[in-house]
Parts: sequence; structure tokens; C-alpha cells
Amino acid sequence: GRVAVFMGGDSAEREVSLKSGQAVLAALQSAGVDAYGVDVRGCLLKVAESPQYDRVFIALHGRRGEDGTLQAILAQAGIPYTGSGVLASALAMDKLRTKYVFQGYGLPTPRFRAMTGAGQAAQILKELRPPLSVKPAHEGSSIGVRKVSTEAELIDAYNAAAALDDLVLVEEWIEGAEFTVSLLQDRALPAIGLSTDHPFYDYDAKYLADDTRYRIPCGLAPEDEVRLQTLALEAFRVVGCRTWGRVDVMQDRDGQFWLLEVNTVPGMTDHSLVPMAARAAGISFEELVVRILADTLE
Ligand code: DAL
Ligand code: MG
Repeated sequence: GRVAVFMGGDSAEREVSLKSGQAVLAALQSAGVDAYGVDVRGCLLKVAESPQYDRVFIALHGRRGEDGTLQAILAQAGIPYTGSGVLASALAMDKLRTKYVFQGYGLPTPRFRAMTGAGQAAQILKELRPPLSVKPAHEGSSIGVRKVSTEAELIDAYNAAAALDDLVLVEEWIEGAEFTVSLLQDRALPAIGLSTDHPFYDYDAKYLADDTRYRIPCGLAPEDEVRLQTLALEAFRVVGCRTWGRVDVMQDRDGQFWLLEVNTVPGMTDHSLVPMAARAAGISFEELVVRILADTLE
């Protein structure tokens, strides 16, 4: 049947999604799949009206495309789509509630608070140990994320995040190393270690800088990498994800791992992390997208 690759959209990650979608589309076409691209803007209900396709590859990042809204519309229309279902998509898009789920399952995640007003800054600085990470709860690609240490910085960062989102998450910053683990068909791919000269792996370091370093193999001892992969797979499962995704994890200086979040539609641009991990496991980009698509038939 015919496959539509949904890309673009109206979220803050539109530009990233257009790149992901173009890469996915080209790979599907070169694998001989009858695929075409759709820039999904405006009312999502339109996409399910007399569809010209049989399946959807979702390459939308961020709100409405990655957060369960689109998934619900496609489910209602009986159109198979790639990746996680409604609940897992919605949950993973909410970094705050994802952390409550991690806690509920006893999985390690940095200590945190939901911040609902600038007036809470002093209290939060008493309860959490700075430096802190301030995040809009429903963004991706590190948009709106800041590292802060003082009350004035926290208030500033809160105001900036609150302008993007009605929910702001503050969590303890883990000093150490950042890793990401890609999941494909219920298996963890090789972990990637990230380092940057930016204060953290922010939007610029992700998409613009050419001095971001990716380590694969990730540099951990084999048993530590297995521990990391196992933790990531558990995180993926407790959120209820399906087929593929990527889990971001920090390792502190004592070697302990801390879960940050789960991404249900990770970037698929040509220097994105999931394709890199797949390649290290001997899976080409083309095979990766074909395998993700194939799972919609189950
Ligand atoms: N939100 C971006 C696309 C990622 O997780 O890769
Ligand atoms: Mg994310």
C-alpha cells in the first residue's frame, strides 16, 4: 500500500521534523516503498479525511504530532501508523509526569519539582540542590532549557520556559556524562556518549555546531553499557512505548545512571542519534525505516 510520511507540522521543532521526514522519505523510496511526503499543518482532522494512503510514517516532532493527538486521530480513522500509541506518546511528551512514572517503578531520575510561579524560586532552591535544569515540560530538542544556580537565574529561566509551556519542570542537574540509548523493536542498540563545549547538549549543539562529539562505542565498560541499555529499555517499557524510541540518560561522577526522558519520535536527520546507533549495530538507515514501518502491520 501507499505510505504517507508526515513531517513538518506546527511545533517548535518544525525545522528538525522537515529534515527527519525528508530523510525517512528518501530512504523508504530507495527501498522501493510507494511513499510520499505530507507537511501536516493546521487542522489535524483533515489528514484522516478520505486519505490517499494506507499507512503513515510519523516523522513529526513535538506537540500535536508526537504527543498522542495525531495518533488518536489515526487510530480513530483505522489508519496504521509508526511508533508509540496514544498513551505512551502523550506521557512521553510530558517530562514531568514521565518522571512520576519512573519514580513509581523505582527507576532513577533526578530529583525535581513542578514550578508554577516565579514566587516559588526561593523555596525550590531550598529543596533541590543547584545547579538546576529548568525545562518547559512539553518541548523537545532542548528548546527553552536552561541551567541555573541562583534565584535570579531560576526566575529568569522559569519566565522563559513558562512563555513556551503551561508546565515548567525544575530538576537537579547531574554533573557528569550524557548518554542516549536507541530502542528498536524491543531491543537496545549501542549507547552513544555525547560531549559538547556548550554548557550542555542544547539545540545548537544538537543541530548547528560541528564540534559536538559522539562516542560510539560509548566508552563505558561493557557491563556498564549493558546496565545502561537495560535501564533505557525498562524506561521505554514502563512508559508503554512501541517499536522505536530513544532514552536520554545522565551518568553522575559516581557512575550512577539517571533517566531524563523518553523520546517517541526521535530525530531522523542525517546526523541524528538513532540512525547512528543503528549503523553501529549493522542496520542501515534504509533498513531502519523499513523495520519501523513494518511494525505497523502487526
Ligand atoms: N526531539 C528531538 C527530535 C529528538 O529527541 O531527537
Ligand atoms: Mg525530547
